[in-house]
Amino acid sequence: ASTIASASSAALTFDLVARCSTTRARASVLTLPHGPVQLPIFMPVATQASLKGLTPEQLEETSCRLCLNNTYHLGLKPGQEILAAVGGAHKFQGWDHNLLTDSGGFQMVSLLTLANITEEGVRFLSPHDGKPMLLTPEHSISLQNTIGSDIIMQLDDVLVTTSPDHKRMREAMERSVRWLDRCITAHKNPDTQNLFCIIQGGLDTEMRKECCREMIARDTPGIAIGGLSGGEAKDDFCRVVRTCTELLPELKPRYVMGIGYPEDLVVSVALGADMFDCVWPTRTARFGSAITKHGVIKIKSSEYATDFGPIEEGCGCACCKEGGLGITRAFVHHNVAKETVAAHLLTIHNVWYQLNLMKEARNAIIADEYPAFLRQFFANIYSDKT
Ligand code: GUN
Ligand code: ZN
Repeated sequence: ASTIASASSAALTFDLVARCSTTRARASVLTLPHGPVQLPIFMPVATQASLKGLTPEQLEETSCRLCLNNTYHLGLKPGQEILAAVGGAHKFQGWDHNLLTDSGGFQMVSLLTLANITEEGVRFLSPHDGKPMLLTPEHSISLQNTIGSDIIMQLDDVLVTTSPDHKRMREAMERSVRWLDRCITAHKNPDTQNLFCIIQGGLDTEMRKECCREMIARDTPGIAIGGLSGGEAKDDFCRVVRTCTELLPELKPRYVMGIGYPEDLVVSVALGADMFDCVWPTRTARFGSAITKHGVIKIKSSEYATDFGPIEEGCGCACCKEGGLGITRAFVHHNVAKETVAAHLLTIHNVWYQLNLMKEARNAIIADEYPAFLRQFFANIYSDKT
């Protein structure tokens, strides 16, 4: 497909290649400092600078060209000094493709019970030595500048509960705008690293619109929609994503943070979102679950002990494909919960599944057949034929 519209900023180019004629879905190419990626895209999460159980080479073989790291984890260990000494996170983990780092605030607030947010930043006790620490917008950006990730995220004030405390929600939304300004001022490498803003505002349509207007005015190279990874009702989720995508500029990438269930991905794409990340596909692999087009299957179930087929018939991953590793469900079943190889193989499969789902969605958008793709996707999921 060829470009129908294009926009560039200092460290990225966004080429729109197709628009769906009936939904808001679009297909594009996002060219980052470490190469082009095709959107829509799912980005696996390599929290500790590795996808648990996979070598960088195995991750590359899933066709992944953009994955996540977390500033919070890398900032604590190996820490800024070692990251600076080695020359950034690409070199540290032997990854020549693109990296996106989340800013750290969300991880802290969701992982630590004692995180305390003030206008200055997020105060927390180090999980390593219990020392009080403070993550400010400036410090998060400084860490991400040292990490050298292709996309860096602003520090935002995230509420993890979906409690309808409107006063606190407004404070968090307005503070996130103020923190974006501090992040923009602190950012030292705008020519090589793309700073994305994060829209907050909970489930309140008006607050989301207000936040969109404020964030759009700051003209970052890409835009994220945050505050949605909880268990909100599907109609609330869709309303918030749609409210934002309707206001966002067409020629910038749109990233819905913390989303990973296949159903949520294909629906979010229909609403005009381009990028997603979630730990679920890799975490569920480690718990023995394989994602397939007919739904998630638990390999430890006894029915798989004598199933000599691949993890998923027709899958193109290194485990399942013709002429690939020749992994059977029976083999994974035999090792699951005992040997880590089962987790590694399911991780390869699940990451490939997620990336392939987005490729198929992209092809359907380019063929202008996205509604039919959606119908077939949901027919497969609910046909329960594993
Ligand atoms: N990951 C999932 N949701 C969010 C969010 O709202 N903000 C940040 N920084 N990371 C996230
Ligand atoms: Zn597979």
